[in-house]
Amino acid sequence: MTTLIGLFDSDALATSIAKKTGMEKMALDLHRFPDGEWRVRLPGTPAQEVILVCSLHQPNEKTIALFLLCSLLREMGVTHITLIAPYLAYMRQDIAFHPGEGVSARYFARLISGMVDRLVTIDPHLHRIPALDNVYSIPCLTLHAAPVLGAWLREHLPTAALIGPDAESAQWVSEVAGSAGLPFTVLSKERLGDREVRIAVPAIASWQGRPVVLVDDMISTGRTLMAVATQLRAQGVANIRALCVHALHDEDAASRMVASGIGTVLSCNTVVHGSNAIDITDLLVSAMKTA
Ligand code: R5P
Repeated sequence: MTTLIGLFDSDALATSIAKKTGMEKMALDLHRFPDGEWRVRLPGTPAQEVILVCSLHQPNEKTIALFLLCSLLREMGVTHITLIAPYLAYMRQDIAFHPGEGVSARYFARLISGMVDRLVTIDPHLHRIPALDNVYSIPCLTLHAAPVLGAWLREHLPTAALIGPDAESAQWVSEVAGSAGLPFTVLSKERLGDREVRIAVPAIASWQGRPVVLVDDMISTGRTLMAVATQLRAQGVANIRALCVHALHDEDAASRMVASGIGTVLSCNTVVHGSNAIDITDLLVSAMKTA
C-alpha cells in the first residue's frame, strides 16, 4: 500500500494521479500561523510508503513545509518517501557565475536528499550539471515532456516552425521538433542581468507563413522570449506563440509578453498556471507504473 499526499497547488495533480492509479490519497492539514510558521497535521496513519506531490515553484516556504511533513511521516513509521516535484527548483544556479557565489543547485540537492528517499521530476534545468545524480544522493527519475509537447504540436500546430532562444533550450527544442517532425533553430543569448538579455535573431524568411513557436523549458520574467518576439515582429512575423514546460511567470510578465507580440503562451501543468494547456498526469502515472 502507498499513500499519496498533495501539497499546495499540486493537490489537484495528486487527485488526478490518485484517480488514475487507484492509490489512496490522504488530505494534509497545513496550517499557517499569523507569524508565517507552518503546522502540519495528518488525519490518519499513512502507509509505510508515501508519495508526496509538490511542485517547487516559489520554493522557499514549500521546502520548510515539506521538511516538517517528512519529519512527521518518519515519526509515524513511514519507511520510504518519494517526492514527485514536477518542477524542481534551484537548478539554474548550477555554478558560481561570479566569485563568492554559492552553487544553490548542489546545496538544495543536499537538503532534499536528506528529507526523502526518491525524487521524480520533469525536465529539471540540467545544463552545467549533466544529471541529477551528480548532485542528489538519492535515486532520481527525470521525465521529459518533449514527446507530450511534440504530440500537442502535431495535433494543434502541424505547420509550425520552432525557435529555442538560447543554447540551454537546444535540448528541449530539438526533442520537441524531432517528436513533432517540425523545423527548428536555436539562437544564442547573452544574459546581462535578472531582467535583461541580449539575443540576435537572424532573418527567418524561409519560414514565411508558418506559425512560429518559441520553445523553452521555463518562463520566469518572460524577458528571454520577449527579446525574440520583438525582433520577429520587426521582421514581419505575425503569428508568434510560446510553448514551455514550466510557466513560472506572473500576470505582469504575461501582459508584457503579449505586448511584445506573443499571441498565446502554452504550458504544461507542472506548475498550476493560466497558460496550462498540456496535462502531464499520464506522463507521471506511466513512469510510476514502470518504476
Ligand atoms: C535559462 O536558461 C532558461 O532556460 C530560461 O530561458 C530562462 O530561465 C527564462 O527566464 P526569463 O523568462 O526570466 O527570461
